[in-house]
Amino acid sequence: MSTGTPKLTEIQFRCDAEEVSRARAATRRRLRGKSQELIERAEHCVSETIANAITHSASQATSGLVSLVLIELDDRIRVEVIDDGSESNRPTVIEDPDDETGRGLVIVAQLSDDWGFHLDHSGCNVWFELKF
Ligand SMILES: Nc1ncnc2c1ncn2[C@@H]1O[C@H](COP(=O)(O)OP(=O)(O)O)[C@@H](O)[C@H]1O
Ligand SMILES: [Mg+2]
Repeated sequence: MSTGTPKLTEIQFRCDAEEVSRARAATRRRLRGKSQELIERAEHCVSETIANAITHSASQATSGLVSLVLIELDDRIRVEVIDDGSESNRPTVIEDPDDETGRGLVIVAQLSDDWGFHLDHSGCNVWFELKF
């Protein structure tokens, strides 16, 4: 019988592009035993959201860190990427198919079962969920 208790892992990464592959590896480890298809979708979404936190938020200039939170629920994994926020930027889905950039959040929206973001005084939390 399930206890319904979420299993939570939180890992911090430096604001360095090389950290994206560490975040992918941590995600893979956390989801060991789940389907390869699910693991690949999770890794892809983690890459995009961690890269965005590193590139587009103020974290680089402030704490120097971004956080990855993996929460395993009974029927899904919830992933949260938390940064220090930004004075000028907020997550925005760029729908232009001809644009060279701006694909990251479109991919997250397509590959996940649900996603969103939350902004407050402490920063930005971009989350997505994948059903098992
Ligand atoms: N964590 C974030 N903090 C602030 N702005 C963000 C964040 N993630 C995404 N954005 C904004 O949303 C836009 C779209 O993100 P994305 O689709 O990944 O495209 P790209 O990273 O190629 O610009 C970014 O250009 C940026 O302006
Ligand atoms: Mg991006």
